[in-house]
Amino acid sequence: MSYQYLTVERNGGVERVTLNRPDVRNAFNEHVIADLTSWARRAHDDASLRVVILAGAGKVFSAGADAAWMAKMAGYSHDDNVRDARAAAEMFLAINTVPSIVIGRIHGAALGGGSGLAAVCDIVVTERDAIFGFTETKLGILPAMISPYVLQKIGASAARDLFLTGRRFDAMKAKEIGLVHEVVPAAELDAAVDRYVAEALSAAPTAVARAKGLIANVLSKAPGDVIGITADAIASQRVAPEGQEGLKAFLEKRQPSWTRTT
Ligand code: COA
Repeated sequence: MSYQYLTVERNGGVERVTLNRPDVRNAFNEHVIADLTSWARRAHDDASLRVVILAGAGKVFSAGADAAWMAKMAGYSHDDNVRDARAAAEMFLAINTVPSIVIGRIHGAALGGGSGLAAVCDIVVTERDAIFGFTETKLGILPAMISPYVLQKIGASAARDLFLTGRRFDAMKAKEIGLVHEVVPAAELDAAVDRYVAEALSAAPTAVARAKGLIANVLSKAPGDVIGITADAIASQRVAPEGQEGLKAFLEKRQPSWTRTT
């Protein structure tokens, strides 16, 4: 599969997906959206894919939606605008539901939809000097398609400040609000990502996919309404081959069969 604005490198069960439109700081237009969506949909069907590293080429991770692309939408009908916006929404949904572990590697900046991409990653590692922001209101627009994922990560209180002011914030603030998991010096960024990759490769793939599905499912419901879902999830998984292998490997003091180095 070849892409116009994505570089995809595969090493065993690990895929490194790099946004590759550095001249405009990896801003995304309809072509980047099409690339990312088709990559994510393919990843949904790839049972051997265990970990994804989502990164950006050049100076920054991503400057979000392409302002030139959005400005030209004034010449399109409302229906065309909605169709176009829905394509972006489908992209975020497709990445958010990739069943393997998606690690965001953020350097430089993640602004607007770039911070939205961080929100659909499972784990986000960033360098200390990176800047973040839901800058849309500064441009007279809204953080619309990314809002469900960002709100799940940062909550309404931080969103009221950051969505409404559109102000930029630093990596430590991104960690404080739950958008980022680890902040490291720039020189240690890849080593930090590699540590998460190694952790991810020792987690059982079916259990990972089901745990990820469980988070989304449980989040949308009240605690009393999820007893059936959670009980059924563990009842199925602990008697499944993976559950049995993991429990036995622990008791027999050996590595389970799914553990890999790449
Ligand atoms: N859409 C379209 N083009 C963009 C862009 C965006 N979101 N972000 C950057 N670019 C373009 C710039 O217009 C510039 O084009 P030019 O070379 O033709 O002048 C080029 O990318 C480089 O941008 P520049 O600002 O000079 O790069 P920088 O490395 O100094 O700064 C950023 C990088 C990301 C901090 C800065 O570009 C920025 O703040 N971008 C806007 C981010 C934003 O608010 N996004 C929300 C969109 S909804």
